Amino acid sequence: METYPGKKKTAVFISGRGSNLKSLIKYSKKKNSLIKIILVISNNPDAEGLKYASRSKIKIYGNKNKSNFENKSLKLLEKFNIDLICLAGFMKILSGNFIKKFSKPILNIHPSLLPKYKGLNTHERAIKNKDRFAGASIHKVTEKLDSGKVILQKKVKILKSDNVRSLEKKVLKIEHEIYPKAVDKFLTNL
Ligand code: GRF
Repeated sequence: METYPGKKKTAVFISGRGSNLKSLIKYSKKKNSLIKIILVISNNPDAEGLKYASRSKIKIYGNKNKSNFENKSLKLLEKFNIDLICLAGFMKILSGNFIKKFSKPILNIHPSLLPKYKGLNTHERAIKNKDRFAGASIHKVTEKLDSGKVILQKKVKILKSDNVRSLEKKVLKIEHEIYPKAVDKFLTNL
């Protein structure tokens, strides 16, 4: 089994486009990064991000079978001796059983200023409530949805002219910026 001194073996879980995955891959290739991405797992075998991962020579695994997704993934995580999972646009809720069995840290990126707007349609809700700020948060994953300790978050202003799409675009930009930073911060403070 290959070792990567100073780097945590990381699996990224995605469901679609994979732009956050791209920003994590970019970070992982830096000399001083604290992760090596070994595996990308998806609950959607057609996820665009899987193609990018495979072009980056990272092992991929796609499985849309609800009943065995977690068990098969756990086997792979064990096989590759994965130390850290980063959920990046992963739209499936992991069970408590999975979190317990993996037993190592799992991080997630959520497009809101947690604890505000857990769950879906975060930008829509922020605009509807006339919030002045939206943003993104990286947090530890626990059994309770979007409720684990926040590692890093960043705000963006909601302008009067913003709609869900424009806000989504602005927030996505900061997501790409803060996920690598949060991973670094989290692993430095372990
Ligand atoms: C991101 O906004 C993420 O926060 C949300 O889903 C989106 C995924 O985008 N949960 P991508 O697949 O990383 O491009």
